[in-house]
Amino acid sequence: MKVLIIGGGGREHAIAWKVSQSPKVDKLYCIPGNAGIGRLAECIDISLNDHKTLAEFALTEEIDLTIVGPDDPLAAGIVDVFEERGLRVFGPRKKAAMIESSKVFAKNLMKKYNIPTATYETFNSSEKAINYLRTSKYPIVLKADGLALGKGVLICKDYDEAVKGVKAIMEDKKFGEAGNHMVIEEYMTGPEVSVLAFCDGTHILPMTSAQDHKRAKDNDEGLNTGGMGTFSPSPFYTEEVDRFCKRYIYQPTIDAMKAEGRDFVGILFVGLMLTQEGPKVLEYNARFGDPEAQVVLPRLGNDLVEVLEACIDGNLDKIKLTFEDNAAVCVVLASEGYPEKFEKGLEIEGLSAFDKCKEYYIFHAATRQEKDKILTNGGRVLGVTALGENLKEARSKAYKAAGKIHFENKYMRNDIGKAIDNI
Ligand code: AMP
Ligand code: GLY
Repeated sequence: MKVLIIGGGGREHAIAWKVSQSPKVDKLYCIPGNAGIGRLAECIDISLNDHKTLAEFALTEEIDLTIVGPDDPLAAGIVDVFEERGLRVFGPRKKAAMIESSKVFAKNLMKKYNIPTATYETFNSSEKAINYLRTSKYPIVLKADGLALGKGVLICKDYDEAVKGVKAIMEDKKFGEAGNHMVIEEYMTGPEVSVLAFCDGTHILPMTSAQDHKRAKDNDEGLNTGGMGTFSPSPFYTEEVDRFCKRYIYQPTIDAMKAEGRDFVGILFVGLMLTQEGPKVLEYNARFGDPEAQVVLPRLGNDLVEVLEACIDGNLDKIKLTFEDNAAVCVVLASEGYPEKFEKGLEIEGLSAFDKCKEYYIFHAATRQEKDKILTNGGRVLGVTALGENLKEARSKAYKAAGKIHFENKYMRNDIGKAIDNI
């Protein structure tokens, strides 16, 4: 069969690698792809905003399955456009992708269906929000309603900071239209865990857990980023936590979406905080996490294409997921200055050493090929994933490998997975 992947980051490289392992797949395309994906797939340059042209491409090339990676096209309804043309596509429709694209919607859903999450209020005017802040407990968390590249969350230590935050979101529109509405919620503490789950609208099959490192600098300092590294599994995600989440979070979320007429087909990414009172939902995403996909997919034993098809066909209850009994750590190599200003177009060296290594995966996040050279092409450049018998071994291998890859403004965190040293 012919498969098309939409997107061009590390997540899509991990998906492309896993899909290319499937005996069902004869030909792989990726739009727009990157230099790494280009070794597995034919990369085509079409704007991800132009859903009609994307669907025309899929029709002309007789694509059997399209997999959508990033949040923006999902939120804008790419799946609806493909389905209207009779194309087979994996991802939630616009109505279901709202679980990520509107935090107000997601919070109200959790409240209505008793899914554990931080207590909150929603606001559509800065006046009302500021009024609410007068009697709030601190620290407090402000969230812009819409998609904001993972940056629309502000944690404010006191009233003055929170007032500034509300004004930045709702009046100065720091995150654009995403700030037309906002959520103000209780500040929670505890280890954070991400669980990605396959969904077919009725059934939900959670994958192994992962843990992200969102801040740019060591010790969780610096600005929020898309993610600077991950590991899987999370030692905090015990069997007891898993049982609780399946019963009170995962299945209730899928049931709630169905009850609302928004059947969720795709990947539900549940961001959890393991608080003293039990696991609570921090956020939902409607897609694979990046870099979470880069540690979870290399550990997945199943044929990914088979599982995605079961999601589309509503047969997920027939699938049993298997994960290798090992661990994976991914260290993101970024351009110095990310997530703000950084240089692009710098040559990357040292990649070919990993071409034939089975326990290493160098997933390209932002690279481009120029003749025989591979150049940096964005903030997060590469994800260096290593597998090991346990997290410590995987971490030491990932850092060794990361040290062998060079480009001029290379930057990485040095403490990915360090939390596990104390367990
Ligand atoms: P989100 O995009 O909603 O996952 O938020 C980004 C990050 O902000 C999360 O990964 C948490 O580290 C932090 N965060 C979000 N909500 C809360 C909360 N209610 N309490 C404490 N930290 C939070
Ligand atoms: N790494 C977090 C995300 O993909 O949203």
